[in-house]
Amino acid sequence: MTEQSPVTQAAAKPVTLPDAQTVTQVKHWTDRLFSFRTTRPQSLRFRSGEFVMIGLMGDPDPATGRQKPILRAYSIASPSWDDELEFYSIKVQDGPLTSKLQHIQVGEQIILRPKPVGTLVHDALLPGKRLWFFATGTGFAPFASLLRDPDTYEKYDEVIMMHTCRDVAELEYSRQLVEGLAEDPLIGEFVGDKLRYYPTTTREQSPRMGRITDNLTGGKVFEDLGIDGINPETDRGMVCGSLDFNTDMKAVLEGFGLEEGANSDPKQYVVEKAFVG
Ligand code: A2P
Repeated sequence: MTEQSPVTQAAAKPVTLPDAQTVTQVKHWTDRLFSFRTTRPQSLRFRSGEFVMIGLMGDPDPATGRQKPILRAYSIASPSWDDELEFYSIKVQDGPLTSKLQHIQVGEQIILRPKPVGTLVHDALLPGKRLWFFATGTGFAPFASLLRDPDTYEKYDEVIMMHTCRDVAELEYSRQLVEGLAEDPLIGEFVGDKLRYYPTTTREQSPRMGRITDNLTGGKVFEDLGIDGINPETDRGMVCGSLDFNTDMKAVLEGFGLEEGANSDPKQYVVEKAFVG
């Protein structure tokens, strides 16, 4: 019989996670994307579009046997009225968190720090008539929340959701969510005919193609939707994607005369980086 190392003993002890929430549903959309739902702390209040820190305990430190949480910022994809929380995530095979998180099962626990923050909120925009949501990849997550928030439709006459991914399968989460909205017993009547969905792919043939930036600057999206263009008097925007996408989108929106806002200084558009890793 071999003597157990301190590390094995430490790892074998049951761990009580701080701020633990239980996973209630997991759905794998592609080999790069998944979504999951968890219980919601009763005390957690948030504004649709905000993010929280979530994560898992890391492996035990070989020297001390201690485990540290690995936490990352995740937009809450569920609306603020939902009893549960939903998250939409990329799977990065060597990512410190998502290499583990992608294997999470129903009944298991995640860590959730209940301090929601973020700029993709209605309060950070001045009143307007038409609201644009611009997302690439998992940058759709905050809009999954905002698209299910009655405020979105009460504050605007028209809402346009542009979502771009490499291929068709990566659009499936947003497509199902948007297509389900009209029939949704809670939100359907608010949505009415105000919402228009403009999904595109960049690396696989599909009915609509091209980067969001190109479709805006080239005017294709305006032609397709019968819109004159983006006007700082009436149009408002929220942007969520990779760092490069966000930088390019800022230039595009500033080119249309929109200015970047914040919670403390509402203006015409806001930006947030999608979680990666
Ligand atoms: P592309 O295929 O032309 O790179 P990713 O999966 O790498 O996060 O990318 C998601 C989508 O965002 C892809 O369709 C990608 O287009 C697009 N994209 C990446 N960078 C930019 C950018 N700087 N501006 C506009 N779209 C971008």
